[in-house]
Amino acid sequence: MVKLEGEALTDFYHTSYKEQYHFVPIKNWNNDPNGLCWYEGRYHLFYQANPHEQKWGDMYWGHAVSKDLIHWTHLPYVFQPQQEILEQDQLKGGAFSGCAVPMEDEVIFYLTRHLGPLEDGPDTMEWQTMSRSKDMIHFEEETIVIKDKPEGVGYDFRDPKVFCDKGIWYMVLAGAFNGQSAILLYSSPDLLQWEYLGPLVVEPDPGSTTFECPDFFYLDGKYVALGALMKHTDEHGRYQMTKYYVGDFIDHKIHVESTGWFDFGSNYYAVQSFEHEGKRIAIGWVSDFYEEHVEVKNGSYGSFALPRVLSLRNDVLCMEPVPQVYDLKQEIIYQGQGESIEIDQIPSNSYYVKLDLKHSTDFIMELGRDEDQHIYLLRDHGVTKIKTVNTKTDHIDFIADVQDVKNIEVFVDRRVVEVYINHGYAVGTKLFYTPSCEGIFGVKFHEAENVEYLEIATMKSIW
Ligand code: FRU
Repeated sequence: MVKLEGEALTDFYHTSYKEQYHFVPIKNWNNDPNGLCWYEGRYHLFYQANPHEQKWGDMYWGHAVSKDLIHWTHLPYVFQPQQEILEQDQLKGGAFSGCAVPMEDEVIFYLTRHLGPLEDGPDTMEWQTMSRSKDMIHFEEETIVIKDKPEGVGYDFRDPKVFCDKGIWYMVLAGAFNGQSAILLYSSPDLLQWEYLGPLVVEPDPGSTTFECPDFFYLDGKYVALGALMKHTDEHGRYQMTKYYVGDFIDHKIHVESTGWFDFGSNYYAVQSFEHEGKRIAIGWVSDFYEEHVEVKNGSYGSFALPRVLSLRNDVLCMEPVPQVYDLKQEIIYQGQGESIEIDQIPSNSYYVKLDLKHSTDFIMELGRDEDQHIYLLRDHGVTKIKTVNTKTDHIDFIADVQDVKNIEVFVDRRVVEVYINHGYAVGTKLFYTPSCEGIFGVKFHEAENVEYLEIATMKSIW
């Protein structure tokens, strides 16, 4: 193995399109976050990884640790694909997504093993396994905990996520129930024997195949279930959004009181949450559903959006970045009130924008430009959205579910743009590939007198 140090390491992280303050694998592919937990003083982030290429392949679990959820140290891969998959080109699978349950002196892991032909179908096999680790480096051999699919459930049967409520362990799994996307619910008295309780949620609308990477937890007096709607396209053209359901949990079902989209940008998938010190923290995969990835030497496909602290406000799932992200603010390059501005050559193209408005106003904010390609956040006749020009997503309106806009925060980090509106009432993530390592920012307001405060600051690299 080549050891990268000093300048060589820095050069590695400065390859085009590599995030500077979002988690990104050293190189090659990542998808879902897995096994998020806090154990013995450190946060652990595992993730679906193909260490060999910048595209999906046979799945390993990558691993990184952090003391603050911001600065990460890469560790060796843990679960590997089954040997037969590595040896036979016509098979696919490996260690699919799963979760971690930290106990006093060990962590229990649940994951899916997938084995099947290249095209999913009746020969596809998915089953759930369990492993343990005391030091997060050495893992006990996996044992099977759930093998047989319940009646009425198709071949999607994966992504275990475990949660404890009132002394009972629950596990949710991705599935489809009689052809409709469903989150399947199991329970266990001891984390070893699992009993099927039926679907926790069935999505009434057709047009998706399953809820990938479901999650289920208690938050601010209600229960929240969520999952990534595989193959779904919404009325604005957004592909594969994550839908959440809020309500009471009665007789093993969520009695839904409200629903919404987790992230309006739709480059955000397979979010997983965990609880630490009374806060529910979620990390999602910045996914490239519109095939915008540009492959470069030592490049990485995929990264993770900033860890978000979840809360419920009027049954809306709200989220704000973990507060420690603000420690990365480096230099304030603009501070003011009420003007339209334009800034070029923002070093490193990683910056932060804060805008407070006295009253809503329409505006147009440019967050990235590469020749005739642009990405904007705008409010037009009261509709707030992310919009791109001359990219593969021009036909899509990434609309935020908000009326008045009082506060906006934007985190630009090379190819990732993350927007938080009204203190996380609506949050959107969008990719925008630009080969330059310098950024641009511009804004024009319809009623400039409504602006209370505007700030732009550069952000430090975490690497
Ligand atoms: C979601 C997903 C999961 C699966 C994993 C495989 O992105 O398809 O359902 O476990 O990725 O990499």
